[in-house]
Amino acid sequence: MSPLAVQTLTLGTPLSPSAVRVMLLGSGELGKEVLIALQRLGVETIAVDRYDHAPGQQVAHHSRTITMSDPAQLRALIEAEKPHLVVPEIEAIATPVLEELEAAGVVRVIPTARAARLTMDREGIRCLAAETLGLPTSPYRFCDSLAELQAAIDDGIGYPCVVKPVMSSSGKGQSKIDGPDDVAAAWDHAMAGGRVSHGRVIVEGFIDFDYEITLLTVRAAGQGDQLGEVVTHFCEPIGHRQVSGDYVESWQPQPMSPVALERAREIARAVTGNLGGQGLFGVELFVKGDAVWFSEVSPRPHDTGLVTLSTQVQSEFELHARAILGLPVDTSLRQAGASAVIYGGVDAQDVVFDGVAEALAEPGTDLRLFGKPESFVKRRLGVALATDTAVDAARAKAVRAASRVRPRARG
Ligand SMILES: Nc1ncnc2c1ncn2[C@@H]1O[C@H](COP(=O)(O)OP(=O)(O)OP(=O)(O)O)[C@@H](O)[C@H]1O
Ligand SMILES: [Mg+2]
Repeated sequence: MSPLAVQTLTLGTPLSPSAVRVMLLGSGELGKEVLIALQRLGVETIAVDRYDHAPGQQVAHHSRTITMSDPAQLRALIEAEKPHLVVPEIEAIATPVLEELEAAGVVRVIPTARAARLTMDREGIRCLAAETLGLPTSPYRFCDSLAELQAAIDDGIGYPCVVKPVMSSSGKGQSKIDGPDDVAAAWDHAMAGGRVSHGRVIVEGFIDFDYEITLLTVRAAGQGDQLGEVVTHFCEPIGHRQVSGDYVESWQPQPMSPVALERAREIARAVTGNLGGQGLFGVELFVKGDAVWFSEVSPRPHDTGLVTLSTQVQSEFELHARAILGLPVDTSLRQAGASAVIYGGVDAQDVVFDGVAEALAEPGTDLRLFGKPESFVKRRLGVALATDTAVDAARAKAVRAASRVRPRARG
């Protein structure tokens, strides 16, 4: 296959005819950082979300609030705004509209409209990875009823296994099944937690991994004898810890054997190469010794990659911004570091944060408060960042800093 030519946009002046205009579909904490990176390069930004005053809307030139899963609303907005680039930040988007508009030459979708469609449900990406590309994954089956789920387990998936709605993220509707007594509850939990009510689930054999990583992989402009081509660049692996399918801590670099690292890169190169386009991807992998399994991929910055705000020369958000604009990137690590999530802890609007000064008093700590207008007990409101000479020290420091920040209802 001949290399893909990189598409580079000529940067202009925001709010004037020369402006490069970029629309973010989804403007949460990850979108907010992408928007800030784009703003720094003088890009005109349009932040779209399903609710007003979303984090990214607070830093963009324009904000729009629509239901992004509604094809008519999404089409009308893109046709009205005519951005040069449409950048999905979330999965729940009417992706067929993106494919139609991309095919008609109306917009460029990042990285590609097909990538957005394939990764919005677990079935598309799993079939691509395991069946089309032949990559190692957990054993899996798709099921549409409790009876099918039980049959899939009995016919070979076995115990323990993991059940997930095909349309869900951040661990919603996901549970581990240790034995026959757990099956019905796992089915009910998946039906309640999926994005669409008519439920289909994936059941996966449980991988007893030593650790799991996100391998941030960037398809961006090459240099030297690859000038003008899209080249694959890798960041240092990010280790992370998940609780109930949601990330609570991440760190970089995660030490890996040379063989495992090479395998991880091969898998990431294959899957991102197939999805195509320009941009940063978060490739999630399970590792045991030298064995590596593909789990899933985000064709966009990854929540565990928030750590790169303090560890890399260019954060994953700056890398994404540069990659999509067709600019050179630098994926090198500056310093070992870690991130720890700050949850709301309360159901309230207009929360205030105690303990911020204490959290930042320790050298090598930093903080992001996302500015979400409403707090829920399990909603991510911020993240503590830490750097140190070694990962373990940075992890402890990030957790300490996060624990010092205490959101509470005002008054
Ligand atoms: N087959 C498996 N074997 C072992 N652990 C698993 C398996 N599938 C998922 N997990 C665990 O559950 C976590 C969440 O799973 P997964 O990434 O598929 O869900 P998700 O809802 O897309 O999460 P997120 O949106 O946070 O990435 C994984 O990071 C891993 O820790
Ligand atoms: Mg995941």
